[in-house]
Order: sequence, then C-alpha cells, then structure tokens
Amino acid sequence: MKKSIIFHFAVVLLILSTILAACGPASNEVEVFSWWTGGGEAAGLEAMIKVFNAEFPKITFNNAAVAGGAGTNARAVLASRLQAGDPPDSWQGHAGQELIGTYVKDSKIESLNDLYKAEGWQSVMPATLIPLISQNGNIYSVPVNIHRANVLWYNPKLLTDNGVAVPKTLDEWFTAMETLKGKGITPLALGEQWTKMHLMETVLLGTLGPAKYNGLWDGTTDWGSAEVTTALENYNKIAGYANTDSASLTWQDASQLVVNGNAAFNVMGDWAEGYFRELGKAPNTDYGWAPVPGTGGTFQFLSDSFVKAVGAKHPDAAEAWLKVAGSKAGQEAFNPVKGSICARTDCDKSLFGVYLQSAMDDWASNTVVGSLTHGVVANDSWKSEIDTALGAFVGSMDVNTFQAALVAACKSSGPCK
Ligand code: GAL
Repeated sequence: MKKSIIFHFAVVLLILSTILAACGPASNEVEVFSWWTGGGEAAGLEAMIKVFNAEFPKITFNNAAVAGGAGTNARAVLASRLQAGDPPDSWQGHAGQELIGTYVKDSKIESLNDLYKAEGWQSVMPATLIPLISQNGNIYSVPVNIHRANVLWYNPKLLTDNGVAVPKTLDEWFTAMETLKGKGITPLALGEQWTKMHLMETVLLGTLGPAKYNGLWDGTTDWGSAEVTTALENYNKIAGYANTDSASLTWQDASQLVVNGNAAFNVMGDWAEGYFRELGKAPNTDYGWAPVPGTGGTFQFLSDSFVKAVGAKHPDAAEAWLKVAGSKAGQEAFNPVKGSICARTDCDKSLFGVYLQSAMDDWASNTVVGSLTHGVVANDSWKSEIDTALGAFVGSMDVNTFQAALVAACKSSGPCK
C-alpha cells in the first residue's frame, strides 16, 4: 500500500516537472537578432520591446543584437549561425534582394501568409513593398519601417555663416564644398567602408537619375558606359572633400561631426535623425536636411523587416514578436525614435517630428528607388563584389580599374550578360 502511494506520488511529480519544464523560462522566450545596439537604434528597438513586454508578459525577450552599423558584423555572425543550423527565432533582414536572394533562396525563413491573413496586413502594408518580400505567392517578412538613404544632412549655422546655400545640384555641391574648404572647414564627414558605399549609391543616383539608376540593377544600364564613368568621377571628387580619418569612424562618429559643427555635410540614412534626437539636437537649428544633390524628387528607400526562422526554437514566441513588429502600436512606438516612418500606412502622423513628417510626404509623392548598401537592389554576392571593388578603389582612386571591376561584378553576380 505504502509503496503504491510513493509510486503515484513520484508519477505526479514527474508529470508536474515535465509541464513546468515546457512552460518555464527556457521555452517561453524569443531570441531576436538585429544590429541595433546604439546611437538612436537601440532606443528604437527598446521602444518596441516595451510594447512586446506589455502584450506578451509571459515571454522573455532575448535581445541578441550584435553591434556594427548596417549589420556589417551582425550579418557575418548570422551567416555562421545559419550555416551551423542554430538560427535565432527571428532576425532583421532588408526587404528586397537581401531577403529574396539570400534567406528565401537558401530556404532559411518561413512563409508568413497565415499571419498576414490573421493580422489583416495585406491591406495596411504598402503595395510597393509586398513584391519585395514575396516569392511565388508567399510573403516572407514583416516590414517595420521605411528609411530614406539619400539624405544630405548639414550644419545650418556653418552654411549661413559662410554664405553657402543648400546645394541642389552636384555642381552646386562642389562649389559649396570648395568654398568651405577654402575657409578651413571640413566640407564632408565620412565614416567606415559601408558609409562610402552608401555615399556612392546616392551619387550614382544623383548623376544618372532614377531610370538609369534602376537600369544598373536590371541590366538595362551599361556599367561600362560614359555616364557611369562620370558618376564614379563625381563620387571620387566628393569623397576628396572628406575627413582623412574616415576609415576609423562609425556612422555615428561621422554624423556627429556635423551636429557638433566640425563638418558641414554628411550623407547618411535617416537613422541619423534618430541619433541627433537622442543627442538632444534640434531640427532646423542643429541640423538641416535635403535630398542628396541631384536626387531631388527621388526617395531612395530601404525597409527593415523581421523574419521567422525555419527550425525556430520558439516558433510561437517568434510569431508573437512578429505580431508586435507588424502592429500599429509597435510601429508607432518604434519609428519616431528610430528615425524612420512606419511601413504601415495607418500610423498617426502627429506622433512624428518635423523631419519624419517631411519624409512621409516625400515617400508618398516622390519617385521611389531602392538602396544597394541596405539590401534592396542587389543580392549579397553582387553587393559583396561591389564592396571589394570599392575597397580597392578607396586605396587606388583609379576610376578605370574600379569601373572595370563593377562591369565584371554585374556579369558574375548580376543580370549583365
Ligand atoms: C541599415 C538599417 C538601418 C540602420 C542602419 C545603420 O542597414 O536598415 O535600420 O540600422 O543600417 O546601422
């Protein structure tokens, strides 16, 4: 009799501990991977995590962000984790070729069609974005924002004090930088390598215009053409006005030079605005903005989105996170801090500052083209060939060799025959 009581007690204990293990903290978490660790970026993510914690108090948010602007370090860490079969539950990926040409191609992420249906997202996400996150009728990510790449940030006081107007064309920009240089002011703040690619894509756009810029990515603009030579020469000339220690500066370091009055211009995506606000700087006083010269009327965009891993350790918690990332509350908390506008079309405009309100107007009215540096127009292998060619160019400043390498890159990894 005694023995059977002990036996039953042991069985009950075993069942209880199994149930506890299933619901315990180890299983009730979500690991979310990004590169938002500082300078305006972490604050944006934190704002969205707050919404998540309020909606899903029983799920622990495991923030697996890896430092480094534009994901330069994070994407390498992610690639080796994916290779090792150890994916985070959800990670940050750019809408466009980065997503489709890498994670979808390698079957690393789940289709989210059911979630889109359940959450009614088809009707609130922009129609232009859906094809960039879809393949064969399947939607693969949840966009949280729209960022603008082609922004020229400037120090209003430095320009006014030196009689320099905000340049609209590349020629006006050259003249402005020459004037500032003559007065001993650093005309352009520039940072580490990826920020050079970022600058280059805006100068390609500013020189070629949107139609021919788009043609670079679908094979209808010849990378070997005279116009591309002019664009690369323009890029070379512009980069010549930059600080000489660019290689050792993060994007935050470089953009800070402008708001601190140590440089006049910086070309950076509008996450810089999130950073300026975090630094306590005021729009139109400490910093001004304009389209990169030559790109007025065009919005060069990118979109951060989150995915669900194939083989996610916490699939339900991953969906809970994605629900928040795609929700109005999540996006309204995240974007005003991050320096981006909502991917959703129904966010409350009054929650945003004066810069982001102007970005909303431009997103709605401008010609929209995609960013190279931030994953829209080229897949990872093509982008990495361009990056290698650019790295060599930064050392040699030899436009002909650079252009030949870009022609070769389009042939080996892009659509060029
Ligand atoms: C981009 C990303 C932005 C911002 C930026 C700088 O690739 O889309 O959200 O994080 O890098 O790190």
